[in-house]
Amino acid sequence: MLKVNGLCKYFGGIKAVDGCTFNVDRGSITALIGPNGAGKTTAFNCISRTAAPTKGEVWLDGERIDHLRPHKITQRGLSRTFQISRNLADMTVLENVICQSKIGGWRDLMKPAMSTQEIDKAMGILDFLGITRIAYEDGSNLSYGQKKLMDLAALLMSDPKIILLDEPAGGVNPTLLEEIVGHIRKLNDQGMTVLIVEHNMDLIMRLSHRIVVMAQGKVIAEGEPAEIREDPLVLDAYLGGVLEDAA
Ligand SMILES: Nc1ncnc2c1ncn2[C@@H]1O[C@H](COP(=O)(O)OP(=O)(O)OP(=O)(O)O)[C@@H](O)[C@H]1O
Ligand SMILES: [Mg+2]
Repeated sequence: MLKVNGLCKYFGGIKAVDGCTFNVDRGSITALIGPNGAGKTTAFNCISRTAAPTKGEVWLDGERIDHLRPHKITQRGLSRTFQISRNLADMTVLENVICQSKIGGWRDLMKPAMSTQEIDKAMGILDFLGITRIAYEDGSNLSYGQKKLMDLAALLMSDPKIILLDEPAGGVNPTLLEEIVGHIRKLNDQGMTVLIVEHNMDLIMRLSHRIVVMAQGKVIAEGEPAEIREDPLVLDAYLGGVLEDAA
């Protein structure tokens, strides 16, 4: 469904993504893992076109999308969350969910800020995620975990076919983590394709069908969770990261 081919993103001399190639199968939960600085978020930025790739191709359902503007990519069914939760100041959760999901480009300027239809849809999504009780809370009063759920809700507003989740459970408590895992599974059971970045290996091993491992901007391994767990290159890349963190 998604093909990333020879993707590169350079920042001056830094090769954040350096010839990255991988596929995401339709209906799968595919994980993109790797140590800090491996280039996972930058790859997400290039795929969703939040950043322009330096080189390489991204294909969605047989169409090349790396030259499209971000809202055009969302219109084609690909949406992503951000590693750092965004939230618009002085807005309720409901307003945040609706406003962050505007994908009509300049045409949105001509429409009312929130239509009844959009409110119904957003409330349905908040209900799916079990957070209708915070619909009218100010977005800036939310706990970190609630923000993660709000991000997920905003993502679903555009009716995506494939979602890219950048650390959707990063830093949340174990109960909420299980809740988020449950939501991702439920979405996948309904046919949603998922590409997920996470550092929580237990979560990744339980949730994903396929794992792509990046280090220093490159894909260093790919396979099913059981294979990846045993891969010496992967163990090495992670062990390196752990030692660096300790230092
Ligand atoms: N805008 C930027 N300008 C310069 N360098 C950048 C920029 N964005 C990312 N980088 C660098 O690119 C590399 C990859 O960063 P990226 O954030 O993609 O890694 P990551 O795999 O998402 O890491 P983490 O697991 O910590 O989120 C890092 O060396 C980072 O410092
Ligand atoms: Mg990142």
